[in-house]
Amino acid sequence: STYLLNDRFVKDDEISISIEDRGYYFGDGVYEVIRVYGGTLFTAEEHIARLYESAAKIRMQLPYGEEEMKHKIEQLVRDNGIDEGHVYVQATRGAAPRVHQFPGEDIVPVITGYTKAYPATASQHEPVTLKSVEDIRWMRCDIKSLNLLANVMAKQEAYEEGHYEALLHRSGTVTEGSSSNMFGVKDGVIHTHPVSNFILNGITRRVVMECCTELDQPVIEEPMALEDVYNMDEFFMTSTTNGIVPVSAIDGKQIGDGRPGPVTEALMAAFDRKLP
Ligand code: PDD
Repeated sequence: STYLLNDRFVKDDEISISIEDRGYYFGDGVYEVIRVYGGTLFTAEEHIARLYESAAKIRMQLPYGEEEMKHKIEQLVRDNGIDEGHVYVQATRGAAPRVHQFPGEDIVPVITGYTKAYPATASQHEPVTLKSVEDIRWMRCDIKSLNLLANVMAKQEAYEEGHYEALLHRSGTVTEGSSSNMFGVKDGVIHTHPVSNFILNGITRRVVMECCTELDQPVIEEPMALEDVYNMDEFFMTSTTNGIVPVSAIDGKQIGDGRPGPVTEALMAAFDRKLP
């Protein structure tokens, strides 16, 4: 395969990353995952804009702009012949001897990217189950940071017990998933955490919100209490990699009849209509 390394396209055996990269030492960097449907990037501008926003929030200036990044990512998809799959791109603060403070101006960020091919499930995902896990992350979850230790630990805890995703909550207030946003439906109204420093402002979440507007589907952007999610009529999660995923049970308690409900079904159909 071909990889992106800064402003170049390189083969596997040509990649060399410094042991002193701040990504290794500190997880000092940001990333994005962008879905490819039928050879076309989905919501690429939004993802690239968020990458540059995340970089700005950690006071990191990328060596080239959003337009050039888009062209590079498109070329990476073409070079690897990706029809269905995704692109991963990350930027670290660069390679420098390990001190916590930023390196000097002469040290430039290191950008890497790869593609991954997999079948298009779009939003046709089978229902999954969740396990609630305490959200022990920092207070800047709006930044798509490479620091994913708390996310990794939460996901593993859910996975080991046979669940697809962790439902994160801060002392009983639901925030999001380990790598997804969470939505409940009660009496025809969608509930989801508002955009804040406690969640990632998911691009799939934004597309779902657009679908809600188009469908005249009411949404309340207020945090859900964990104790209330068990009594929701429907529940679903969203992410770039999986689109909309219906949830059949949380902590072993079945949601609705365990099948995707009417609101989830309508959103999955509306979401599919937006795909390239
Ligand atoms: N994760 N919340 C978190 C913490 C995430 O890491 C992600 C995405 C989302 C969903 O955002 P989006 O719809 O923009 O993908 C929410 C990516 C897919 C990952 O880490 O693989």
